[in-house]
This record gives sequence, C-alpha cells and structure tokens, in this order.
Amino acid sequence: MHLQYLILVLASAFLAAALPYGSTRDKKSSYLVGSLPGLYSNIPLDEIPLMFSGQLPLYEENNTHYYFWKHTDNHKASGTENRTIFWLNGGPGCSSMDGALMEAGPFRIDKNLKVTYNNGSWHKLGDIVFVDQPAGTGFSYSDELDHDLPQITNEFIRFLERFFELFPEDSFNLIYLAGESYAGQYIPYIADAVLRRNKNLGKNEKPFNLKGLLIGNGYVAPDAQALSYLPYAIQAGILDPKNPEWHKVLRQHEACQNSINDASREDKAVGSEVSSHVCERVLSLILEASRDPDRPEDQQCINVYDYTLRDSYPSCGMNWPPDLSYVTPFLRKDPVLRDLNIENHQKWKECSGKVSLLFKAKHSMPSVTLLPSILEQIPIILFNGNRDIICNYIGTENFIKEMKWNGQTGFPEDAYFDWKYGNVTAGYIKKDRNLTFVNVFDASHMVPFDKPEISRSLIDLVTGDFIEKTEETGDGKQKRTITTYPLGARNANGSSNKPEASSEVSGTQSENTTDTETPSHLTTSSEDKNDKSQTLSSRIARIIQLVVVVVLIWGIYILYSSYKSRPTSIIKSKSSNKKKNVQWADQLRQFEEEEIKQNERGILYKAFNKLKGSNNRSKYTPLSGNLTENIELEEGPQIHDKSETADDFAIGSDDEEHEGMKQSSKGHDDSK
Ligand SMILES: *[C@@H]1O[C@H](CO)[C@@H](O)[C@H](O)[C@H]1NC(C)=O
Ligand SMILES: *[C@@H]1O[C@H](CO)[C@@H](O)[C@H](O)[C@H]1NC(C)=O
Ligand SMILES: *[C@@H]1O[C@H](CO)[C@@H](O)[C@H](O)[C@H]1NC(C)=O
Repeated sequence: MHLQYLILVLASAFLAAALPYGSTRDKKSSYLVGSLPGLYSNIPLDEIPLMFSGQLPLYEENNTHYYFWKHTDNHKASGTENRTIFWLNGGPGCSSMDGALMEAGPFRIDKNLKVTYNNGSWHKLGDIVFVDQPAGTGFSYSDELDHDLPQITNEFIRFLERFFELFPEDSFNLIYLAGESYAGQYIPYIADAVLRRNKNLGKNEKPFNLKGLLIGNGYVAPDAQALSYLPYAIQAGILDPKNPEWHKVLRQHEACQNSINDASREDKAVGSEVSSHVCERVLSLILEASRDPDRPEDQQCINVYDYTLRDSYPSCGMNWPPDLSYVTPFLRKDPVLRDLNIENHQKWKECSGKVSLLFKAKHSMPSVTLLPSILEQIPIILFNGNRDIICNYIGTENFIKEMKWNGQTGFPEDAYFDWKYGNVTAGYIKKDRNLTFVNVFDASHMVPFDKPEISRSLIDLVTGDFIEKTEETGDGKQKRTITTYPLGARNANGSSNKPEASSEVSGTQSENTTDTETPSHLTTSSEDKNDKSQTLSSRIARIIQLVVVVVLIWGIYILYSSYKSRPTSIIKSKSSNKKKNVQWADQLRQFEEEEIKQNERGILYKAFNKLKGSNNRSKYTPLSGNLTENIELEEGPQIHDKSETADDFAIGSDDEEHEGMKQSSKGHDDSK
C-alpha cells in the first residue's frame, strides 16, 4: 500500500537520522511532509503531491523564520516541470495558508478537519510554494516585525536565497510570483528588487529567473481604487438614487476626490497606506447603505468580498469564507503542526492584527508606480473576481487607464478579448505590451476559492499557453477570443485527453513548444526511453535492491523515531526560545491593549485584515489574566470560537474609537 510514498518518507527519515543533530534543520529532508489528516484516505494516491514544509531560518540575530509549504506534482506535465510559483496572501499580516487551503493549493479542509482534494490546484502547472510573510504572519516569526515595504522586500529576497539553497535543483526554475489583495503591494516591490538584483549580482549570487507576476484583486493604486467604490456600487446595484444614504455617499465620494486632488497638488508622497479616512468612509457608507434591518441577523449588510453575499453588521464579510471555520482549527491541531514540521508552535490566525498595526508603509510609494519598469522586463497579469467590492475590477481598470507603460498610456481599443475556458465563458481580457487584465466572472475577492480550475489557467495566460482567435463578425467588426484549456484538453481536440501515457504528454509538449517560452526540457522523456529499454531482468534486480534498501531504512527509521520521540525540550537547540517568546508575547499584548485605546483605523484596515467586527458588544470579554492561555495552542477543534483572539475583539469591540465606523454610526444616529 502506498509503497512509493512510504519509501519516500522512510528514505528521508533515513537521511534526517543520518545527519548530525545540529544541522538537521538545514536539510531538505527535515522539511518533508509525510502525512496529514485525511491524506491517504481522501486524496487519490496518484494526486498526493511531494510536499515540503517548515520554518526556514532567515536571520539568526533576531530569530526570523519564514514558514513555507511547497507542493510538487508527482507526474508533472511537460513544460511545467521547471516552474516555481510563490503565492502570497495580503493583509498585511494574513497567512498564505488561505491560499494553500482555500484557494490555489491541492487541498481543502472538510468538516472533519481532514484534507480533501482540490481538482483546480495550481501545483499541476508548476511547483507552488505558499509563504507566510512578513514575519509574525501565520507560522512565520521574528523578534522584530516590519514597518515598511522595503523591509519586507529584503526579507523576501533573503527567503528566496535560503529557499534555493535548500532546493538547489530548483534554482534555475522559472519563477512566478502570485498573490492577492495587499500582495498587490508586496509582489511589485519584490519583483522590482529581484530584477534589480539580477542586474547587479554580488559575488556568489545567482540570478532569480523571474518570469511573470499574477496579482489577484490587488491593492495596487490606493487613490484610483478608493474612487472606484461609488461607481462599483452603482454598477452592481448595491446603491441607487432612491437609497436614503445616496446623497451622503455622493458627498463623501466628492470629499475623497478633493482630498486626493489636494494631495497631488501639494505633491505629497502618498504612501501605500490606505489613502485617507475620508476615502475609506465612502466604503463604510456604502456598507451602511446596504443594511437591511428586515433581514435575519447574519444577513444585515453586504459582504465586501462578494457583493452577492450578505453578512451580519458590522462584519460585512469578515465572517467569510466559511471554510475558515475548518481551516483555523485544522492549523491548530497538534498532529497537523507536527506533520507540517512547525517547530516554533504559535496559534495560527488567518490575519495578525499586530503585523498590520506595526506595518504602516508610510515611506513607500504605492506599488502602481513600479509597474511600468517591471513591464519593460516581464509580463504581469492583473486579475479581478468581478464580485469583489474592496479591490474591485473598476478600480483596477481605472488605474490601468491612467498608467503609462511601454510607450503608451492605457490599453488601446483593440486590446479586448472574450475569455473562454474550454467552451465556457470565463470572463474578459485586455492585453497589450506585457500587461494583461482579466475580469473573472462570478468570482469574489478570492478568485481561486470560487473558480479553482479556471483560476489555474491564469498561469497559462502568463506563460503564453493559450489560443487567440479573431473572427470577422460581418459588420466590419472583429470578435476576438482568448481560450485557455482544462488540464490536458489543449491538444486533445475532442480525442481522449487523459494525461495517462507519458508519450502523449510529451506529444503535447512538442506541439506546445512554440507557445511556451522555454524550449522543451526533455529530461522526462529521455528517462522514459531509458525505462523502456530496460530489460526485464534488470528490473527484477532493481526490485530486489529496493526491498533490501526498504528493510534497511525501516530499521533506521525505528531508531530515528525513538530519537524523535524524546521530549522536545531536548531536541530544541536553544532551551531559552520558549521563554523569549513568552516575553515577546507579553510585550505585544501590552502593545495591543494600547492600540485598543488609540486605534482609529477604518473599514479598509478591517477588511484587508479580516478583523471581525463584533455584532454584539456585550459579548466583549477582556483578556483574562492567564497569559499562557492566550499564546499557547488551544487543543482541538473550536469551530465556533466567537471571541477568537485579542486582535479580533480588539478591533471589533472598539467601534466607537474607530474612525470610519464611528462616523458611520454617528451618521446613523443623525438619520433617526
Ligand atoms: C472538479 O471539481 C468540481 C467541484 O467538485 C467539479 O464541478 C468539476 O467537474 C471537477 N472537474 C474535474 C475535471 O473533475
Ligand atoms: C515584454 O516582456 C518581455 C519579456 O517577457 C521583454 O523581452 C520585452 O522587452 C517586454 N516589453 C515589451 C514592450 O513587450
Ligand atoms: C462544453 O464541453 C463539455 C465537455 O466537453 C460538454 O459536455 C458541454 O456540453 C459543452 N458545452 C457547451 C456550451 O458547448
């Protein structure tokens, strides 16, 4: 049963055991993932990816470790084997486990807190690595948290260096950076730094072969995006002149426009931070206007991430997506932490309030200013789920209209294409001069959550694996279509498209070569040829060898597991680690309490960080005196944990101190 996998796990256990204790953390094998709840029962054996996961040391001096989880398909289609996609969620402070377990990764978590298969996983088109960053996010940690984008960028470059030291076989891979929401700031900053680094390599530095960027519902151009809330709300039918709040929203929109004009007149360097409270309030007012007291309590206002859904007020989407109620307890289970090689246990949270409170990005220009120079060098895909309000597609299209890149401003008239996924209409595309904008129909802020298979083919758009057609429509006009295809369907043309036989896959490859930027990597097919030419007897000899090796490894594994089952305090290199963390947590807690008093951030801050508003103030309970309870893992599933974390109620319970909401509620009182 599962022999391949067992051998793999045992072989790595063998490797790990063979290494001297101190250096195990640096070795690939100690990052291997051999099991997960549900892995062997729910996932077809064939589809279990090769996985590495763990907290990679970046800086010793302040104990910075970045958590990553890498997934490699066991039978990659040709043309995809030399790609590595790094995925980043936003916030700042939201864990990329959102991406891994609800979006682009191979697994979803079911109600039994077990993994199930996501047949739209991106790992089928290249290795995908989910990275928690900056430090303090998800399972990544440090004694020092970041304040601005250049810091995050440097740390991510360091992460890439360490990552490719760990996986040297990947270091010449084609790299794609992908992500969502506030990662619309991270990704261009990182890309810009990578491209500059490639031109100025230091001694012993290898270039990173960055090939393209994919940004989903990105927060890229705060000003243009702030001005999109009103037009979007009207277009989506959320708001119309009959709404009693109509004039108020209009006035606020105008005030936002004025404040943006003033800032640009005064030539202020507007940071990547949310533009201003004035502009944020436009969104608060729209949510306020969407309130419907006649509906059930959990449907009072519109969900900012998907206007077709509703939520309680003032959460307005913070309780979404529903999978979170499985993902959170899953990532807090001890066996899962062990499976994922999490050495420094911390209670997983979707978004860290500390990270985002400390992260101000005060001194950096919004990432939109970096796009033109990046587009001179590599392609960028900006995609938007069309149901999202907070980073809606109108905002993206508007900032593109104003942006000058590769010699022209905006898209020309003929940049428009219908987008088909197979024979299904998936959205529309505008494409010119290395920039592609994609409007994904019927998708939310988290496109791969709603449209896993379709979202995967966004990778085909950045690698060039699609078909572009122009048809004359008779009236002198042209209808242009871009088609991407389900896995294996591209060259099937009606015939069977099972990616079974490797010969068929390499057939796909040779037909594809013109489209993909990389000439074929023939390693797979030459290996296949070798296999075929092997005689039966040599195969039998191999099997015997294998059995001997397995038995050997098994013995060593037993030894290793007895070593590993010693109390963790012995394994941990520094016994002081834990204490340090407690002190750190204590400081942070103090800090949070101060922040509770002075917090004046608005709806955008909440929405980017998924901080739940509490709908019932009486539910607020202050932090208990027992500190360890707050920072240590609470065991077992807690699916309906209302009072979640300090962060959650710190913000949610403090609406009065909260600029955007304060004004909204005042407004509400006024109207009474
Ligand atoms: C993938 O899963 C979705 C949802 O379960 C299903 O609708 C779709 O048909 C599946 N696709 C394939 C290729 O199996
Ligand atoms: C677009 O990107 C390619 C690399 O993919 C680059 O060679 C080219 O110069 C870029 N610029 C334009 C205008 O296409
Ligand atoms: C699209 O293709 C699928 C499978 O190839 C087929 O079942 C379906 O009827 C087609 N739909 C349309 C609208 O052509």
